[in-house]
Amino acid sequence: MGKVILTGDRPTGKLHLGHYVGSLKRRVELQNAGDYDKMFVFIADAQALTDNADNPEKVRQNIIEVALDYLSCGIDPNKCTLFIQSMIPELTELTFYYMNLVTVARLQRNPTVKAEIQMRDFENTLPVGFFCYPISQAADITAFKGTIVPAGEDQEPMLEQTREIVRRFNGIYGDVLVEPEILLPENSVCLRLPGTDGKAKMSKSLGNCIYLSDSPEDLKKKVMGMFTDPGHLKVSDPGKVEGNTVFTYLDAFSKPEHFPAFAPDYASLDEMKDHYRRGGLGDVKVKKLLLAVLEETLAPIRERRKEFEKDIPAVFEILRKGTEEARKTAAQTLSEVRDAMKINYFDDAELIAQQAGKYSGKI
Ligand code: TRP
Repeated sequence: MGKVILTGDRPTGKLHLGHYVGSLKRRVELQNAGDYDKMFVFIADAQALTDNADNPEKVRQNIIEVALDYLSCGIDPNKCTLFIQSMIPELTELTFYYMNLVTVARLQRNPTVKAEIQMRDFENTLPVGFFCYPISQAADITAFKGTIVPAGEDQEPMLEQTREIVRRFNGIYGDVLVEPEILLPENSVCLRLPGTDGKAKMSKSLGNCIYLSDSPEDLKKKVMGMFTDPGHLKVSDPGKVEGNTVFTYLDAFSKPEHFPAFAPDYASLDEMKDHYRRGGLGDVKVKKLLLAVLEETLAPIRERRKEFEKDIPAVFEILRKGTEEARKTAAQTLSEVRDAMKINYFDDAELIAQQAGKYSGKI
């Protein structure tokens, strides 16, 4: 059994720093380390449609944005298969078979889906497709026999559900599917990066995102307007570091070498934090460091994006080729699934012979 890395994102907007620290950065590291048999990264447009049925244009427009974000972060189509979910009908078929292996009560217990239903005011208007998306996600993963899924912690319930489906399927029909594991970010502050306003999550709907494609001017405006410690009014006041978004971002993004380069008064982030706590360190100075750190992270991404933006048809061609290739793998798994479920009637010589025998006496 091989090592298969697989993950994806819903194309509902451009990707932001939360996506980057939560999963994108890790994907590129994994890809470049090369310790895998296959790697798939995909655009989950069918999943995006489960809560955007009336706004397909939003999903359609964001396919290219997500693809450009992937490529500009360093996802390399020569090492990693990039594809579009809805262009692989096998995934939908697999979802339909898995639906029989999951109870409504089990889906209702999924904490991520529960929170999303609340956030979207879906209490009385919940689309069946949205409710079932964890099942479709299990199909995404298992169709490629994914073993490692780099993702944020909000995806853990989906992985748990996937493993249950795999065990149920293999128990009933025989060993075909493979149980996947989640690969969470190593740095605990990266598990869920807060928004620039200090709210628990960076999210497009909250308007508190720093996008990977933000211009240097937008980045500066956003960093300078970031939430800090509301009690830290004067530079001389002692300040709080915990819950201070600027420091949270420094925890997530700064490296030891940034201090001599951008904040030579401090040997390390800990020293800077101590000064802030004691008082005498102003927010602007800390924000300037963060801006330099983020600019260093985002500048090469922005530059690569500009290159890919020059030839958009080529980016669609990358997706088309990747989708074609991915489909072969999914089709192979589906063929094994149909065999195991014994719904491969036309290839089932034994069934045909048996049915013929049953009726042969009657002629
Ligand atoms: N749920 C993921 C998101 O919200 C997207 C996704 C769909 C996914 N299928 C997946 C992620 C399979 C990992 C594996 O962005």
